[in-house]
Amino acid sequence: MKIAVACDHGGFRLKNVLMKDLKKQGYEVVDFGTYNEESCDYPDYAAKAARAVASGECEKGVVVCGTGIGVSITCNKINGIRCALVHDVFSAKATRAHNDTNMIAMGQRVIGEGLALEILNAWLHTDYEGGRHDQRIQKLMALESE
Ligand code: RB5
Repeated sequence: MKIAVACDHGGFRLKNVLMKDLKKQGYEVVDFGTYNEESCDYPDYAAKAARAVASGECEKGVVVCGTGIGVSITCNKINGIRCALVHDVFSAKATRAHNDTNMIAMGQRVIGEGLALEILNAWLHTDYEGGRHDQRIQKLMALESE
């Protein structure tokens, strides 16, 4: 599976930790930057990862900033993206099972690396449940054409 990753300066260190783990597990990782801790604007990088997921170039995406909020808002502006800001393992599983999220956002200034890795892997290894959630997702995706 090909995974898009992106961050701003506030998420650079955590992005590297997550990327290393993804590669170790055999995922193909496409890194859309930023590539250092110099101050930058999170929409520039998060949008690139989101577009790669929306186009099908990558199957899933992982974005990180200081809080996770800026990158998650950015990704959700791109049609086709359902990005969840997650800082606990329960929500990581639930948002795959119920929302079929194709991107996850986390905040480097909010959680530690160990929890972030647990969250990432819970999210990656949980399948969408379908069923009653299908119509809910259809309704939320229909909002994109308003
Ligand atoms: C950068 O200082 C910070 O604002 C950014 O990483 C993020 O937390 C925004 O939502």
